[in-house]
Amino acid sequence: MSSPTPPPLDLGNIQGDILAGGLPKKTETCYFFRINDAYVHDFRTQLAKLVPLITSTAEVLDDQRKQLAQNKKDAAEKKITPPLLKICGVNISFSTKGLKKMGITDEIGDAAFDAGMLSGAKDLGDIGHSSPNGQFDPDWVPAFKQEIHGLILITGDSYATAAEKLAEIEHIFRVKTQNPIIHEVIRLVGDVRSGKEKGHEHFGFQDGISNPAVKDVDAKPNPGQQVIPQGIILCGRPGDAPTLGTPAVPVHRPSWALDGSFLSFRYLFQLVPEFNKFLKENPITITGLTHEQGSELLGARLVGRWKSGAPVDLAPLHDDPVLGQDPLRNNDFHYTFPDDQQTQTRCPFAAHLRKTNPRGDLDQFGPNALTPHRIVRSGIAFGPEVTPAEAATERTQLPRGLLFIAYQSNIEQGFQFVQQSWSNNTKFPPKKPANEVPGFDPIIGQTNNGGVRTLSGTNPNSQTTDLNLDKQWVVPKGGEYFFSPSIPALKNTFALAKPAGEL
Ligand code: HEM
Repeated sequence: MSSPTPPPLDLGNIQGDILAGGLPKKTETCYFFRINDAYVHDFRTQLAKLVPLITSTAEVLDDQRKQLAQNKKDAAEKKITPPLLKICGVNISFSTKGLKKMGITDEIGDAAFDAGMLSGAKDLGDIGHSSPNGQFDPDWVPAFKQEIHGLILITGDSYATAAEKLAEIEHIFRVKTQNPIIHEVIRLVGDVRSGKEKGHEHFGFQDGISNPAVKDVDAKPNPGQQVIPQGIILCGRPGDAPTLGTPAVPVHRPSWALDGSFLSFRYLFQLVPEFNKFLKENPITITGLTHEQGSELLGARLVGRWKSGAPVDLAPLHDDPVLGQDPLRNNDFHYTFPDDQQTQTRCPFAAHLRKTNPRGDLDQFGPNALTPHRIVRSGIAFGPEVTPAEAATERTQLPRGLLFIAYQSNIEQGFQFVQQSWSNNTKFPPKKPANEVPGFDPIIGQTNNGGVRTLSGTNPNSQTTDLNLDKQWVVPKGGEYFFSPSIPALKNTFALAKPAGEL
């Protein structure tokens, strides 16, 4: 079991996608694998060869420093499109079935992880149907209904860098031989969008602005950025939460769980032409705004930020791209302006941002009410840009969306809570003063009980009008929960030494 006072945090021990902005990525391959029954022991011995390739948080910080220095040099030399440094990142994590397959059977202390995402899909609100044996069968791609043992993340500055590293990893696990140690279940490739859409998800909104700062890791939190105890993200660290409730039940973890984190993966398709059509057909009508500006305002109010990243809580009626790009201001808001607390004039209570991080809305429940539910997001967009044919027909023909990845030390309180108890819960956040039912998170809120998705407060001037949200524009097509162990745990517990004399 983990010791009550863990040793000081060493960023060289933590896998690099979890903290400090995550693995540097222009492209990312998510390689989901199953361990071949015949070679479980080989998997663990070969894992020892993978460990040196794993990128730690310390290395990520070092790479960030190098890239920053290079950017400054390129700017001084006035290079117009300077190439990125050749940087690559590798991380590995395991599902509950993967741990069992390796013979690691200690109780890890997370019920959602033990159960797996597939068995919780109905409660997450995913659409599906009853299978002949009476079980819920979500409308996921078949790969995510198969047994998946692990996930290898490979990031890089280019496809070539990532492909080279993947080939090295496949070689370690004899993938292209007659006796492969692992089988690829599915490979998903994400890319940072290019040009002026760089850093924007497929609906067009700047992403990756707001993550919590982790105490003593993120040295200089930006104004408005919540600082959370290390244990909200890392197992075994102070704040690694007991299961909430009265009385709270402390979590007991095996010692190898120290400095690991649970990874929630969601394969989320986005229906971009349909989303755009909805905005076009439902502009917010306010004197002085054109039809197009009314549609942009609706989009901003559904998300809680303008496409530039400017929060509607600070820029309620017009976009402010300078604010959107300013890290010292673009996260510094709390939904506590008097007009926003009671009347959602600035930001709808149910906007995606407000649902998933309600900031000041939970002040009545104490200063730490939000803390157990904070997650670190590290996803990436996948799929092509909308084609002219899709734009013209306003119908999606090609798959695109978000490879959603979030880290937390407690899945039930982290991703699962945000999705189920906040985004899907029409009564959240609790807005007693206005007696308002906020409605669904218009971006990810979902229901599979036949209910209609509605949203209140869409128009800043007409508080109670419910907007019927039409179809879901974000469609889950799979996912799984994984555990991303510390590098020492990978080396000393998960990997096995080869008997002397064996190569
Ligand atoms: C395709 C699906 C999704 C899209 C298009 C999307 C889009 C966005 C955008 C544009 C932002 C604003 C950028 C930022 O503040 O960093 C954001 C923030 C956020 N999203 Fe999502 N998101 C998606 C899925 C999810 C899911 C599944 C969750 C969790 C269940 C989630 C949780 C959050 C959180 C916690 C924030 C930060 C809120 C804040 O701190 O103010 N998102 N998302």
